[in-house]
Amino acid sequence: MLKPVCLRHKQLKVPIIQGGMGVGISLGNLAGHVMKDGGMGVISAAHPGYADPDFYQDPIGCNRKALAIEADKARQIGKEGLLGVNIMVAARNYEEYVRTSVQCGYDAIISGAGLPLSLPAYVPEGTSLIAPIISSAKAGNILLKMWDRRYKRMPDFIVIEGAEAGGHLGFKKDELLSYTYKAVKDIVIEVREMLAWFEKKYRMHIPVFAAGGIFNHHDITEVMACGAAGVQIGSRFIATYECDAHPAFKDAILKAGPNDVAIIDSPAGLPGRAIKNEWLDHKKNPVTRCIRCLKSCDPKTTPYCITQALIEAVKGNISQGLVFAGKNVGRIRQMMSVHELMEELTKGIQE
Ligand SMILES: Cc1cc2nc3c(=O)[nH]c(=O)nc-3n(C[C@H](O)[C@H](O)[C@H](O)COP(=O)(O)O)c2cc1C
Repeated sequence: MLKPVCLRHKQLKVPIIQGGMGVGISLGNLAGHVMKDGGMGVISAAHPGYADPDFYQDPIGCNRKALAIEADKARQIGKEGLLGVNIMVAARNYEEYVRTSVQCGYDAIISGAGLPLSLPAYVPEGTSLIAPIISSAKAGNILLKMWDRRYKRMPDFIVIEGAEAGGHLGFKKDELLSYTYKAVKDIVIEVREMLAWFEKKYRMHIPVFAAGGIFNHHDITEVMACGAAGVQIGSRFIATYECDAHPAFKDAILKAGPNDVAIIDSPAGLPGRAIKNEWLDHKKNPVTRCIRCLKSCDPKTTPYCITQALIEAVKGNISQGLVFAGKNVGRIRQMMSVHELMEELTKGIQE
């Protein structure tokens, strides 16, 4: 059995965070069911309003509205469980989405795809917990030194995302392709060492959650033995009945074999891991209706519109869409309920 973790004044009963997955993969239904089973459910702020008929006229308004609607949905299912939101630093309207999420009463704001240097400025103390996603002790040290200097504030917890995760990755493409990256458990050890100075200064403990390629109970206990308080898991939650994606997206996850994953260049300015498919071979959706959603994306030069490709995928139009997935996707073979998956992960029933 896994032990509960204290995140400042809140208790996470089961130390498993369901990773935020955009566009539309983790919304209120998935998050609510994870909360119901004691884990932290996380809604992705990457276009949660994509299905709104007004989305292309008012993407920011629709996304803000959806952040509130999906949070209510999650809370109706997950009651007192902890609810997080994942907001990418790479998003052009980052500050607005963070402030909206605080107003909606999300328990935690988890933020990666870039270093969330200004996050404490947008989240008053005593409201939502703040948690950066980092991929190395070095990046964590830079971030915490800046938060210490500027805001006199520390993260309430940290997600350490290793190179085997799905979606955008905080590693260089050549490290990913040559498998020369550090194992996430080794990054956990380095981050714990790095945190000691800050924890002493602030007289607090900063729990860390390891992510990327965490597949079963054994993987969880292994990273916990290295100092993690828990884990964040993404891909495995896609193959659940409750996941908010179209059934064809879940099928693509179930059908993918170990050699069906590829590293792509994203207009977000980072590499990403996705399932090989027709779209990936041709990447043929040039920008037609730009909603200016990413800070680093220039619609005149980008080879494809990532938002459109992710929307096609979540709607089930797989051959014309981008299906993000973690390195271990080939090991996911059966659909299950969130409850069954949480039982398996916490009690160690074998794959
Ligand atoms: C389909 C998909 C979409 C994702 N979208 C996001 C996202 O919008 N923001 C983010 O920070 N991480 C995103 N991630 C990463 C997950 O939150 C999680 O950290 C990662 O998947 C963990 O690795 P795993 O899939 O091997 O468990 C995504 C992952 C997947 C598979």
